[in-house]
Order: sequence, then structure tokens, then C-alpha cells
Amino acid sequence: MPAGAFIALEGGEGAGKSTQGGLLATHLRARGREVVLTREPGGTPASEAIRAIVLSRDFEGLDPRAEALLFAAARGEHAARVIRPAVERGAVVVCDRYIDSSVAYQGYGRSLGAGPVRDLSLWATGHLLPDLTILLDVDPVVGLARLSNPDRLEAEPINYHRAVRDGFLELAANDPSRYLTLDASGDVSEIAQAIADRVDVALATVAAE
Ligand code: TYD
Repeated sequence: MPAGAFIALEGGEGAGKSTQGGLLATHLRARGREVVLTREPGGTPASEAIRAIVLSRDFEGLDPRAEALLFAAARGEHAARVIRPAVERGAVVVCDRYIDSSVAYQGYGRSLGAGPVRDLSLWATGHLLPDLTILLDVDPVVGLARLSNPDRLEAEPINYHRAVRDGFLELAANDPSRYLTLDASGDVSEIAQAIADRVDVALATVAAE
């Protein structure tokens, strides 16, 4: 049985994470791997129900701490029911957003602080962390222009999205061996190739451990 692995895709709005997640899954399946392609908030029925609450524009002005707790609750359920079992049976989990999204959006964007927000998700997930995080970096002006029909978080002002971007970049800069940061404004197939190459290295490293 191959060693399982956990890959997270992170980035601001309109960075192309879902496109790249799909391309990465295709690459890995062609190499014979079982891939679980999933997303946050979401990935289980209860977590998708929480997603509907946190993204709904019916709840403008939701208290930032309540928001952070809801994202962490969705993540705890997702980690326990989907991510951890899949990694344990040897699959590669490709997850569109994970803990870093909470640190960037709630910790930096909502000014709750990176430390407490990260600790909350570590507690919720029993310290389940990705083997590799791909950060698709995009100027929020460019990323937001790619969207239509903004949800509650996408509709936040540009300065909020700038703080989120700074948060992601700081997280990646602090731990370069566990991150690949790419300019998301580049060519889709070149980005996909860079991701595939880096993920192949990460899988070889995990297998050798
Ligand atoms: P997103 O992946 O952008 O969904 P879609 O592409 O369908 O719009 O994610 C939903 C939003 O939730 C996005 O604005 C980021 C935000 N978010 C947080 O604020 N904290 C979190 O912990 C997560 C996972 C997402």
C-alpha cells in the first residue's frame, strides 16, 4: 500500500484553486493513486451545512469569533470523517483550503490573531496538518475581478482581502519546506506542471519516511 499524503491548496479569491485541484487529481490518478478531492468549508454533509451558513449573505456582520468557530467545527468534522481515514488507507487527499484559510481570513482578515485561530483548528483536527501546501498567490484586485455573485466573504472590502493575502504569504515564508508558492496570474498548464512536479517530490519524501 502506498503511503497516504495530504496536500492543501490555498490562496485568495479567484486564484484558480479548484481548477488546479482538478488537474492535480487527474495527474495523480494517471499515476495510479487513489485521490480524494475535497474542499473546505465542506466535504461532509454537516460541514456543507456549516458552509451554507458561513457563506450566506443573510448573515452579514456575523461575529468574527463565531465565524472562526464555525470554520473550525466544519474542519474538525471533515478531518475526522474524510481526510484522516483517507490518508490512513493510502490515498492522496487534495483539499481546496484548510487551516491556513482560517489563519489568513479570520486571523489576519478579521484581526483575531494568527496564533489563537491556528490553535483552534489544531485542537479541532487533532493536529492534522498537510504534508505540503500549495499557495496560489494573486493580487486581490485581479482575483476578485474573476468572480461573479460574491458570497459573504468575497464581498468584504479590498483591504480585507489584502490582509488575507499578506497572511498567506507570511505563513508560506515562515515554513518554506512545506509550501510551494506560485504566481496564480500565470499560465494554467505551467502552474499545473509546477504543482505536479512538487507534489511528486512530496509523495516520494512521504514514502521514504
Ligand atoms: P471558496 O473556496 O472561495 O469557495 P468558492 O470558490 O465556492 O466561492 O471558499 C469559501 C470562502 O470561505 C472564501 O471566501 C474563503 C472563506 N474561508 C474562510 O474565511 N475561512 C476558512 O477557514 C475557510 C476554509 C474558508
